[in-house]
Amino acid sequence: MTSRKTLCVAGASGLVGSNIVKAALERGYHVNGTMRDAGDDDKRRYLMALPGAGERLTLFSADAGDSTSFDAALEGADAVFIACLPPIYRAQDGTPASGLDRQRGYDEIVRPVEEGCLNVLRATDCQGVGNVILCSSTSSTNPPEPVAVKTEANAVSDPERQIAAGKFTAAEKIVMERAAREFCEGHGQRLCILLPTMMLGPVVLPRHLENGSHSLLVRLSRGEQGWHQSVPAGSMSVSHVADVAALFLAAYEDPRAQGRYFAVYDSWSWRDLYAEFARHVPASGLPAPLDGEPEAPTRFDFTRRDSLGVAMRDIPTTIAETCEWLKGHPFGGAVGQG
Ligand SMILES: NC(=O)c1ccc[n+]([C@@H]2O[C@H](COP(=O)([O-])OP(=O)(O)OC[C@H]3O[C@@H](n4cnc5c(N)ncnc54)[C@H](OP(=O)(O)O)[C@@H]3O)[C@@H](O)[C@H]2O)c1
Repeated sequence: MTSRKTLCVAGASGLVGSNIVKAALERGYHVNGTMRDAGDDDKRRYLMALPGAGERLTLFSADAGDSTSFDAALEGADAVFIACLPPIYRAQDGTPASGLDRQRGYDEIVRPVEEGCLNVLRATDCQGVGNVILCSSTSSTNPPEPVAVKTEANAVSDPERQIAAGKFTAAEKIVMERAAREFCEGHGQRLCILLPTMMLGPVVLPRHLENGSHSLLVRLSRGEQGWHQSVPAGSMSVSHVADVAALFLAAYEDPRAQGRYFAVYDSWSWRDLYAEFARHVPASGLPAPLDGEPEAPTRFDFTRRDSLGVAMRDIPTTIAETCEWLKGHPFGGAVGQG
């Protein structure tokens, strides 16, 4: 037990947030978690079943559209972990982001994420919370001119160019990061920004197996086709979600930590990822082989990530752990293995 301080996790029912809650409880913290409806028992019961939750987890309802709704969860907290701003892919009427004009794209895709983040930050300021650990994404790390080796300093997307090109979902996260940086600088708060991509590993809520990265392995484990008919030429960055949570906690616990940190283990070609999946799943769902050679995977400089002192699992270990866990019929087999 490192401390009995209280941490607020905004987005406690999410893939990232629930793992931060789990890691924080394991380390002895009191946790105030938020979700839009804290009374939703389909989510709440899995969080309240975590070790330590009965004594040290309190769940609050809060919506990123309403700053004051975070006040109660932030009261007395030493830090906030913001993981309640998932990407927006569609406008309110269901139009895909790619089909929107500049005004609607900004108003309905980019601004809600930016304003949602600022709403949480305004509440942290009101409640005197000095440490902010924000979950962003490597989707904010695509500069207009590609770089040979990405660092947190050189891999910065250009939001104006992305918005001008109609890439509103791509622009969300860098706009959010910029707004958060300006706010925290102006209000004397320490800000760390974590940048994950594809996360695997055991999840806390069964719903996290239904979409996103885990749905790929769930389908492949059943022998069903996943995302691809043939192996793509590109690459994907991967990390274990528990290691991502550990990076969040490490960024909070090191008072010198500040700024952006990659939260990925490494990037592999899809060809190599599928070769690794093939060691654990039936052949029936695997895509047709890649015709030709893969593109070179993204290269990262992990100096800053490693400065946080978290020993991360390599990709084969992460995939093996995830597949083994799925074979154990988590959640009583209701999801995943069927
Ligand atoms: N999952 C990935 O593969 C991935 C990869 C890279 C980066 N990220 C980043 O990680 C962060 C968290 O993503 P995630 O995958 O954990 O998302 P998630 O599983 O969809 O969870 C989102 C969390 O935010 C809450 N939430 C959603 N809308 C909200 C709103 N309007 N107001 C308040 N709370 C709201 C959700 O709670 P309720 O729905 O219960 O209200 C839930 O707790 C995001 O910034 C995302 O871009 C995720």
